[in-house]
Amino acid sequence: MSDAPRVVFITGASSGIGYATALEFARQGMHVAVTARRMDRLKELEGVVHALPQPHGDILTLAADVRDAEAVQAAVSLAVTRFGRLDVLVANAGVGQRGSMVDSDWEHLETLLRTNIDGVLHSIRAAVPEMRRTGGGHIIIISSIVANMTAPYAASYSASKAFVSSIARSLRLELEPDNIHVTDILLGRTATEFNQKRLGQVGYAAKAPRLPVMPVDQVARAVVKASRQRRKTVTLRLFDRLVVWGNALVPQLIGRRALKQYKT
Ligand SMILES: NC(=O)c1ccc[n+]([C@@H]2O[C@H](COP(=O)([O-])OP(=O)(O)OC[C@H]3O[C@@H](n4cnc5c(N)ncnc54)[C@H](OP(=O)(O)O)[C@@H]3O)[C@@H](O)[C@H]2O)c1
Repeated sequence: MSDAPRVVFITGASSGIGYATALEFARQGMHVAVTARRMDRLKELEGVVHALPQPHGDILTLAADVRDAEAVQAAVSLAVTRFGRLDVLVANAGVGQRGSMVDSDWEHLETLLRTNIDGVLHSIRAAVPEMRRTGGGHIIIISSIVANMTAPYAASYSASKAFVSSIARSLRLELEPDNIHVTDILLGRTATEFNQKRLGQVGYAAKAPRLPVMPVDQVARAVVKASRQRRKTVTLRLFDRLVVWGNALVPQLIGRRALKQYKT
C-alpha cells in the first residue's frame, strides 16, 4: 500500500455511528467518502471535518439510498474518482424495527430487510472490485449483539443482523485470496437516534430492560481501531460479550425472558 492517506467509504454517515466514525477517520488523516439520504446532515459533517485541526483527511459527501444498487455503485465510483482508491468499507447504514412478526406492517419489514441486508450486500459488491484493483482492503460490517439472538418482537431486526454476520464469516474466506479482510462488529446499545427512529408497533418497547448505553464516540474509535487490525469479530464491552455467550448457552431462557419484557 502507498503512503497516501487511506480512503474509507461509509454508508449511513448522516447521524450516529456513521457520522462519528467518519469524523474519527478524518481526524486520523484518512479521506472519507460518506453516504446517506439526508444530504443536509452530510453537509453539516463536511463543515465539522473542514474545521478539524490540521492535518486531517478530506471528505466527499454523496447522497445514496443503500437499497438502490446503482446508487451505491455510483457513489463508490465517485469516491474512487475523487480519491483514487478505496481501502476500507464501513457497511453501517441500518434501521431498527420492533413488533409482532405476523402483524407488523409489511412496508416496515421490507424497509428493514432491504436496508439492513440488501444495503450491506450492495455496498460490498460495489466496493470489492475497487479493493481488488489496488491489491486489498478491509470490509467492516456493523452488526449487533442481537444477531443470532432469540428475540421475540425483534425477530426480523435480529435476523437481518444474523444474515450480515453470517455473510461476514463466509465472505472472509472468499476474499482471502484478494487480501481483503472482513471484520464483523457486534455492537451493543449505543447512544444515537436509532431507537427513536425504530420502525414498528407502538408499545412493544414499553417494558424493555434499561440496558447500558455506549457513547457513540467510543464506538467510532473502536471502528477506526478495527480498521487497523485483522480481527474477525469485535465485541466492545464485557456486558455485550456476556449477552452473546448467554444466548449461545441458553437461547430459550434469554428468549423467554425477552418475551415477558416485550409482550404488551
Ligand atoms: N444504536 C444502537 O444501539 C445500535 C446497536 C447495534 C447495532 N447498531 C447498528 O448500527 C448502525 C448505525 O446505526 P446508528 O445507531 O448510528 O443509528 P442512526 O443514528 O439512526 O443512523 C443510521 C444511519 O443509516 C442511514 N440510513 C438508514 N436507511 C438508509 C438508506 N435506505 N439508505 C442510506 N442510508 C440509510 C441513516 O441516514 P439517512 O436516514 O440520512 O439515509 C443514518 O445515517 C445500524 O446498522 C444499526 O443496526 C446500532
